[in-house]
Amino acid sequence: MSLENSSTKTPNIPMIWMFRGSFFLSLFKSYFYIFFGKSNLVRLALRMRLKDKRRLKSNDYNLKNLHESLEVIRNKSLEEYPHYDYGAGYNYQSLEELNLCGFRSTEKRISALKLNERLMGKRVLDIGSNMGSILFSVRDSIKSGLGIEINKFLVEQSEIISSYLKCSEKLDFLSISFENLNNYQDPFDIILSLANHSTFDGNTKQSLDSYFRKINELLVDGGELIFESHPPEIEPPDSLEKTSEVIKKYFSVTKIDVQGLNGFLDKNRSYFICKKKI
Ligand SMILES: C[S@@+](CC[C@H](N)C(=O)[O-])C[C@H]1O[C@@H](n2cnc3c(N)ncnc32)[C@H](O)[C@@H]1O
Repeated sequence: MSLENSSTKTPNIPMIWMFRGSFFLSLFKSYFYIFFGKSNLVRLALRMRLKDKRRLKSNDYNLKNLHESLEVIRNKSLEEYPHYDYGAGYNYQSLEELNLCGFRSTEKRISALKLNERLMGKRVLDIGSNMGSILFSVRDSIKSGLGIEINKFLVEQSEIISSYLKCSEKLDFLSISFENLNNYQDPFDIILSLANHSTFDGNTKQSLDSYFRKINELLVDGGELIFESHPPEIEPPDSLEKTSEVIKKYFSVTKIDVQGLNGFLDKNRSYFICKKKI
């Protein structure tokens, strides 16, 4: 699948239409769009959604209820959220533990970046936490986690997943922009900036300099930033080089070699481990 398709600002328009009407009508419309629809992203999102429904065991009522609650929030978001929808009406991030497919495999990212090992016992901030899948997947390793996410519908999803997984004491999710995160109680040991230093939806308002300076200030001495670039189609090498120059003002940067990320939105990204400069 090409990234061209992910640059359209309107994948949620057909999705709103899709889920209006009875269950059977919306099922018919979904299959109709899968065969004849224009947007590859929407078609993939619909296929993932139907696959997750098929995989649900009929006697797992709690998980079924969770899926239904998530669906209600997603549909509300399709109606009300005016900005780019990274999941094209379904999920950007997977969470296989809960039978949730997504455009990007959280499980492969966690394993390729060795996040369980790197984050062991740490206080972690995840900037632009989306559905929260990264923090959910490392919850047994970390000391505590805060996800901040500008899209309140994604935060609503994180909150109900958190209570389903009974990890609300360890993980917190706030519906605010990174720009508005001020005076957070204690500094963090590790901050994750996974595809978030600039965002496609136009919701990142600060300069790169203030973004990385703020991350530096939010970290303990000796703390680390784990950085993921955008794919080269969106952030070409010269632009990534400029970003890395800004990071180097505030951090000692080590590029890491990451294997095994071959998904259409995962390929060819760059990863840096950045140690806070004092
Ligand atoms: C490309 S997605 C990356 C999501 C996640 N970090 C990951 O890698 O799976 C960008 C996310 O950042 C959120 N976002 C955009 N601007 C933001 C801001 N200023 N503050 C916090 N979150 C933001 C979007 O809603 C979206 O969920």
